[in-house]
Amino acid sequence: MQRLDEAAIRTIGIPRLLLMDAAGRAVAQAVRELIPAPAQDVLVCCGLGYNGGDGLCAAWYLTRWGYQPSLIITGARAHLKDEPAAYARILEGLGQSLHELTGLERAEALREPMSRASLIVDALLGIGWQGPLRPLQERLIRLMNQSGKPILAVDVPSGLDADTGLPNPVAVKAAMTVTFGWPKQGLLLGEGPAHAGQLLVEDIGMPASLLSGLA
Ligand SMILES: NC(=O)c1ccc[n+]([C@@H]2O[C@H](COP(=O)([O-])OP(=O)(O)OC[C@H]3O[C@@H](n4cnc5c(N)ncnc54)[C@H](OP(=O)(O)O)[C@@H]3O)[C@@H](O)[C@H]2O)c1
Repeated sequence: MQRLDEAAIRTIGIPRLLLMDAAGRAVAQAVRELIPAPAQDVLVCCGLGYNGGDGLCAAWYLTRWGYQPSLIITGARAHLKDEPAAYARILEGLGQSLHELTGLERAEALREPMSRASLIVDALLGIGWQGPLRPLQERLIRLMNQSGKPILAVDVPSGLDADTGLPNPVAVKAAMTVTFGWPKQGLLLGEGPAHAGQLLVEDIGMPASLLSGLA
């Protein structure tokens, strides 16, 4: 999937922002189907990579649709890459605050917003990280799972190895996973299905010809 993403962007010339916009919209749409009333609280937890960018984009759609998502990112906002940073700027321009979790000790402060949330969106990590998890992400994943709240995972439940389907060493237990393009191997193997919950595969505009080209 990483090679397909690269081919879509570099060879075919689809701007990453378009893919991210389609991914974020698909996630927001899934939230809307789970929680149709916009007044309820949705907590969106974002990493600093493109998976986090999908989460920020979803938060923008939710805001446009009348939701008031709470947003956290796992580090300093200044470390977001171009496209995720663009969505962060839009959200801030709309008056949304981004809570930066810069240290492990601050993770505990999430217990309260998690307890208030009707739904948690897990956009910490997708297919681009390598395990084992760092302490902050491991702690956040444990807190999310302990919260008892339904979790909607973006692309792959955080902590799950997208190739093997094994937690490394823990992984989000999602009620639903919205994955993009094609299902990742790890969603179907090992403990993947138990962590992914209901699996939605969304077309974000990746040309089907790329898949045959990879074979
Ligand atoms: N082409 C596209 O635009 C496109 C298309 C479809 C989907 N997506 C989305 O993009 C995602 C992939 O984005 P990505 O490649 O940026 O990868 P990612 O899954 O977002 O992971 C990258 C992030 O993980 C961190 N990380 C690496 N190893 C870690 C560890 N052991 N513990 C904790 N954190 C760790 C990295 O930090 P450091 O940088 O500090 O190492 C980086 O912030 C997909 O899953 C999907 O959601 C993108």
